[in-house]
Amino acid sequence: MRSSAWYSGEDRNAYMHRAWMRRGVPNDSFSGRPQIAIANTASDLTPCNAHLDEVAESVRHGIWEAGGVPLNLPVVSLGETNVRPTAMLWRNMAAMATEEMLRANPIDGVVLLGGCDKTIPSLLMAAASVDLPAVVVPGGPMLTGTFRGTPLGCGTDVWRLSEEVRAGTLSREAFLESESSMIRSRGHCNTMGTASTMGLLAEALGTTLPGTAGIPAADSRLLAQAHETGRLVVEMVAEDRRPSQVITRGSFRNAIVALAALGGSTNAVVHLLAIAGRLGIPLTLEDFDRIGGDVPLLVDLQPAGRFLMEDLYRAGGLRAVLGQIVDLLDPDASTVTGQPLVAGLDNAPIWDPEVIRTRGEPLLPAAGIAVLRGNLAPNGAIIKPAAASAHLLTHRGRAVVFDSVEDLHARIDDEDLDVDADSVLVLRGCGPKGYPGMPEVANLPLPAKLLRAGVRDMVRICDGRMSGTAYGTVVLHVAPEAAAGGPLGRIRTGDVVTLDVAARRLDVDVPADELAARDPSPAMAEALARPRRGWEQLYVTTVNGADTGADLDFLVGSSGHAVARESH
Ligand code: FES
Ligand code: MG
Repeated sequence: MRSSAWYSGEDRNAYMHRAWMRRGVPNDSFSGRPQIAIANTASDLTPCNAHLDEVAESVRHGIWEAGGVPLNLPVVSLGETNVRPTAMLWRNMAAMATEEMLRANPIDGVVLLGGCDKTIPSLLMAAASVDLPAVVVPGGPMLTGTFRGTPLGCGTDVWRLSEEVRAGTLSREAFLESESSMIRSRGHCNTMGTASTMGLLAEALGTTLPGTAGIPAADSRLLAQAHETGRLVVEMVAEDRRPSQVITRGSFRNAIVALAALGGSTNAVVHLLAIAGRLGIPLTLEDFDRIGGDVPLLVDLQPAGRFLMEDLYRAGGLRAVLGQIVDLLDPDASTVTGQPLVAGLDNAPIWDPEVIRTRGEPLLPAAGIAVLRGNLAPNGAIIKPAAASAHLLTHRGRAVVFDSVEDLHARIDDEDLDVDADSVLVLRGCGPKGYPGMPEVANLPLPAKLLRAGVRDMVRICDGRMSGTAYGTVVLHVAPEAAAGGPLGRIRTGDVVTLDVAARRLDVDVPADELAARDPSPAMAEALARPRRGWEQLYVTTVNGADTGADLDFLVGSSGHAVARESH
């Protein structure tokens, strides 16, 4: 047991390690019983995770019951709606802090409690780099709220309703009235946004007790699974079942297949790339296209579809979805139980074929994320065709370029802005280095005058991300980002841009030598982040591009869980 490096023996140091930890636990707690951290992202400032203290209680019961010692470990928590400039700026910090605290302490295994967007990715990155037995309990989605009799997709309907206000089809009073209906219960956003996606992908990766992801936060079955997860982690320690064994390249195949079938968030691309980087598993942008490209879309959830997470769970949940596509999954990829992910999937029933389609009647025959390249995105960019407008997937139009979000907000609704429905809206300086942190601003609002004329979608291009709860014909994660010298920083309003999703191309009609000779836009350069100290400075100087997961360069890989030198 790793923790015996602290607790075993009769010398002064072992005495000190044990004595301060006793505080009422049974006397035999330090004689070889596994010490299990509960890495807990509960926080009042992360409202989606505020209920995780109760989930942790259930985990504790399971750990005690199986002979382990549970230890609450509050870790850095990131609330998507509050944290500025974007929670993504601290995903890597949360991962680093959690990794270091697991390694520094007498810990043998860990249960990871997350929910809101960045929390599960940061916990999995940490677990991968410290490589101790680790299992996730996703906090689960909110129950469905309704407004004037209609279900509200939290996240997604904020975008829809606010666009309706701008288009003049909804009053501001009605808009504000909907605010108190949006969040009906504990839990994370109930659309197929990033939190739902990453909870479900944690299970597809093999890192949850099967059947746990997607249980609504308020459903008592979540606590039952949490209790069983507590028992499981003690078994995992006994068998030394660590992330480097559980999560293989085949696990990423399964996650990418699941991502496509679920119609999951584009943010999963950067998170999965970052987790793979921690494990030393070669995963590339193209893998998402190659593996996910031909996977059918089976789940009819907002933002692209109709239903919400509560519906997905009552319809059979993730296992019913995966049961339809077992042949596309890696049969050998394992899970935290030691059993393959595919075990028992053949019999997973669908209870509502409107929510979860059968393989024979998919919503779309091919649903994956498309990876684009071209002279505007030499290192790649992505688009989610399932959330885009079919008529815009092949498009040529004049660029209307914005140098910052402030520039965008100042000019987008200007009646004199030279823009029409065929224009291509470009927003730059929003990548990992540029903003900093790669915020979710890529689904730029449409000009009010075009909204009034009935335009509901346009091609948009950005080096930032898009909220998993948003939709539209949006080209995201353009790499290299403008702030790293990418060509996106050198195009001008009036340049003609061609998007051809079928050919996987994104190009601007400017000769290569002319494009290379242009200076980056001065207005953009002016708006870029220039932090001089602290985390932001470390981040901006060391962050990798979105095409490899936007991790910090020195955090890629693993340092394992070797015990450090004595502290006294
Ligand atoms: Fe937390 Fe959406 S704001 S999951
Ligand atoms: Mg989000």
